[in-house]
Amino acid sequence: MNGNLRRIAVDQLTDPEAAAELAALADELAAHDRAYYQDDAPAISDADYDALRQRNQEIETHFPHLVRADSPSKRVGAAAAGGFAKITHAQPMLSLGNVFSEAELLDFIAGVRRFLKELSDDESIPLEMVAEPKIDGLSVSLRYEKGALVSAATRGDGMVGEDVTRNVMTFKDLPQSLAGGAPDILEVRGEVYLSKSDFRALNEAQRQAGIKTFANPRNAAAGSLRQLDTEITAARPLKMFAYAWGEVSEPIAETHWQFLERLKEWKFEVNPRAQLCAGLEDMMAAYEATNAMRAGLDYDIDGMVYKVNRIDWQQRLGFVSRAPRWAVAHKFPAERAVTVLKDIEIQVGRTGTLTPVAKLEPVTVGGVVVSNATLHNEDEIARKDVRIGDTVVVQRAGDVIPQVVEVVKDKRPKKTEAFVMPKTCPECGSPAVQDEGEVARRCSGGFTCPAQAAEKLKHFVSRGAFDIEGLGAKHITAFFEDGIIETEADIFRLAEKRAEILEREGWGDQSVDNLINAIEARRSVPLERFIYALGIRQVGQATARLLAKSYGSIDHWKEAMIAAGDADSEAYLDLTNIDGIGPSVAEDIAAYFAHKRNLAVVEDLQSQLTVEDFDAPIDASSPVAGKTIVFTGSLERMSRGEAKAKAEALGAKVAGSVSKKTDYVVVGADAGSKAKKAAELGVTTLDEEGWRALIGE
Ligand code: IVH
Repeated sequence: MNGNLRRIAVDQLTDPEAAAELAALADELAAHDRAYYQDDAPAISDADYDALRQRNQEIETHFPHLVRADSPSKRVGAAAAGGFAKITHAQPMLSLGNVFSEAELLDFIAGVRRFLKELSDDESIPLEMVAEPKIDGLSVSLRYEKGALVSAATRGDGMVGEDVTRNVMTFKDLPQSLAGGAPDILEVRGEVYLSKSDFRALNEAQRQAGIKTFANPRNAAAGSLRQLDTEITAARPLKMFAYAWGEVSEPIAETHWQFLERLKEWKFEVNPRAQLCAGLEDMMAAYEATNAMRAGLDYDIDGMVYKVNRIDWQQRLGFVSRAPRWAVAHKFPAERAVTVLKDIEIQVGRTGTLTPVAKLEPVTVGGVVVSNATLHNEDEIARKDVRIGDTVVVQRAGDVIPQVVEVVKDKRPKKTEAFVMPKTCPECGSPAVQDEGEVARRCSGGFTCPAQAAEKLKHFVSRGAFDIEGLGAKHITAFFEDGIIETEADIFRLAEKRAEILEREGWGDQSVDNLINAIEARRSVPLERFIYALGIRQVGQATARLLAKSYGSIDHWKEAMIAAGDADSEAYLDLTNIDGIGPSVAEDIAAYFAHKRNLAVVEDLQSQLTVEDFDAPIDASSPVAGKTIVFTGSLERMSRGEAKAKAEALGAKVAGSVSKKTDYVVVGADAGSKAKKAAELGVTTLDEEGWRALIGE
């Protein structure tokens, strides 16, 4: 096909001709990829294949405005440059909240019932859930358009993932095209995994070939999927259990259970242990039964996931920060092992906290070799009476850092001594102080402590923060130790240090270029990432997002936080008035800005980069966008939680108490002092009907 067109020199092509040829090339190359990877039956020679890619590349270079969303070059062109192309998820990929006991599960169910007011008012309304094993693999999102698989992305940070389309196309059991009845756009999500038996075989082959083996099936699956060389992926028997959806162009089911049925019709693998549960009892039974036969399954699972079956309810429940309110993971008990504690080391964190770390005789816990475990703090060590030389029980649960649970006392050697926490920082020698009411000891060295500075920098480039590709903790530490980087903003001046970096072992022109490009790519950053990256105590991703949402721009936020240093100021009141931010967090933020040095860091960074305003999806038609609303008293038709979620979805901010800045106070039954305060301040009050009328319900 296209033989004629292809003979035309690229610079002679007209726009429509170029567009037509790019479309044809996309199809043709995709077909060759399938023949090669899926069917093990290449239809053309490698040289011809490369020529097609080359032609595609040339046309795209001449006609950049015609580059297609599904362009073959987007996938492999970028890969050739040393990484995967990025894909922005049409719908974010979320994580799940956890419960660890029946009591916590009951709380979860109660929370759902409370949110859906009609269920809290009438206990006889059933709340069905689907229980599914929680597969310990890595999640991917597959996009089908008009029934054809067009792209596949890893979860990444939940918003942007890596393009692994070509790799996923090598999976033997995954449908490349969907039978009739699939919506035009359908994103199917699931967990990619490697079976335990395939994992063992792979490790055996690696061992024989003298290459490094994988710690567990999950790592092996991740390493196999994230291969720039697709042939390596093709040689690994990866599979996927489908369990969720992303963007869909039309409704596909009324219940999750129905959705799973449809997935099966479309030939996806759905976990056979998924089960419809009438209530807590069924859920616990599914959990116990699955846990009991867990070791006998040929794939790793680390718990159960329960999902509200009714999809209309799922939609009303929505999300809180990064996790759905309508689903939760129930983790299996942590796996444990016994080993010897060889030493206790003190680590200094980014905010100066000293953490005792157990150095262990390496031991396998649930398939992973563990040689470090946390001992939390000195109180914990004293409570458990942990001593160097002791035989200890360590446990590991999922991705959590392994911990020392207890000492096997009758194995204690003679002549051990109780552990004494150092009173000075092991890194900089400053006094290690214990704030009142806190168990942790903290290095008082502040900016002068190199360990704190290095940890701050590591945090700055970490995944939820600047996430600079190729600039991990190892490089940051080395650059810091050698004085190439001192402060956060120095990272953005690394290009000036090119010569120095080149002198270092392991760096060449290409890798320095890649690094500098990766840094350039981060010269513009969303406000919430910027705030999180600063590493202020107690300001994690969720709080950073709240702040970004409330203040909108870096300048506005900075100014307000400086003003909030005065606890009597209005700025301080506004800050603590944000639902989810209490006095303790507010004080930590104010303390951060009270340091001239921190302010200098922020301003230096601002001189190097653009901090993007928080782009709240402003719905111009929303009557309450940007308004501050307080709910008080109990509402008739909706729970307070649902009302708040609804208001936020319409672009409003929900505050905990009434101030001059409040736009509306929605007063339910038995409202107390807040309604009175609203009257005093002259703030508009609405009853529930008034509120519903305002938002057009
Ligand atoms: S549902 C909004 N179902 O667990 C729904 N997740 O800890 C989000 N996972 O990121 C996911 N098995 O990678 C769901 N049956 C299952 C799962 C599952 C494994 C993973 C998934 C998710 C993580 C959250």
